[in-house]
Amino acid sequence: MEQPMLRGQEVKFRYEPDSPTWAVDGVSLDVQKGEFVAVLGANGCGKSTLAKHFNAILLPETGTVLVEGMDTRIEEKLYDIRQRVGMVFQNPDNQIVATVVEEDVAFALENLGVPTEEMRGRVDDAMRMAGIYEKREKAPHKLSGGQKQRVAIAGVIAMRPDCLVLDEATAMLDPRGREAVMQTIRRLNREFGISVVAITHYMEEAAQADRVLVMSGGRIVMEGTPKQVFSQTARVRSYRLDVPQAAELRDELVKAGLPLPEGIITPNECAEALFALLREPGSCQ
Ligand SMILES: Nc1ncnc2c1ncn2[C@@H]1O[C@H](COP(=O)(O)OP(=O)(O)OP(=O)(O)O)[C@@H](O)[C@H]1O
Ligand SMILES: [Mg+2]
Repeated sequence: MEQPMLRGQEVKFRYEPDSPTWAVDGVSLDVQKGEFVAVLGANGCGKSTLAKHFNAILLPETGTVLVEGMDTRIEEKLYDIRQRVGMVFQNPDNQIVATVVEEDVAFALENLGVPTEEMRGRVDDAMRMAGIYEKREKAPHKLSGGQKQRVAIAGVIAMRPDCLVLDEATAMLDPRGREAVMQTIRRLNREFGISVVAITHYMEEAAQADRVLVMSGGRIVMEGTPKQVFSQTARVRSYRLDVPQAAELRDELVKAGLPLPEGIITPNECAEALFALLREPGSCQ
């Protein structure tokens, strides 16, 4: 089988050498190439700490992290690893370094010493892929949060990574900005095969992933397709998380006596199930 994009084996990490608590407490996981994985979990459960292991910002105290087979502890691989896994963080303002969008997107490439003629093409491609090309001559600080975040994504994409790790990249955006960024991420995943690991507090975003991981206390406590995970509403809630609104509505309707099937997590699925029920003669009187 093809090598996974990311592999964690019994990864443990703590911020203080003698601390009795581990921020990441024995995590094993694979992220396959082309996969879109959402990571959920209450505040402080270790999501960001784990994410920082995926491009060697942090190294495990015990256990191993492999990026396309490269051990993040091997210093000679650092450059390769950072190029293959791009990180996008929460606050777009902290990620902007230049006064014009296209210069900002080019910044990391310049530092890498990519030749000027190649850079032009890569920067243009990246801005198109991130849906920010029309804004290329604008000042980043004049853009909306969602646009700024897409500039940050373009900067990462210009490095031609195989994987994007987004740590609550939509958290500071309004609903429209959030949707635009999510659309960009989905497109990068589906059309260009870029693997995605997205940490999020928005269940509706997680519902769009191929796979959902739930963390609690530094460990992965649930894992499966969005349907598999969000159907277990009580268990998800026990980790101080919400479920998508459609799943919640389905639960309430079942409690009220409507025989709705399991695995409803999107508004469409909920509407379809209700419609099917209404068409059944005598089903809801
Ligand atoms: N730089 C740091 N120094 C010391 N402890 C830290 C540091 N960063 C995080 N921690 C601790 O490590 C644990 C995991 O934190 P982490 O930031 O990974 O959680 P998180 O799941 O990303 O939370 P959030 O949802 O709030 O972003 C927490 O107990 C946190 O207080
Ligand atoms: Mg975090």
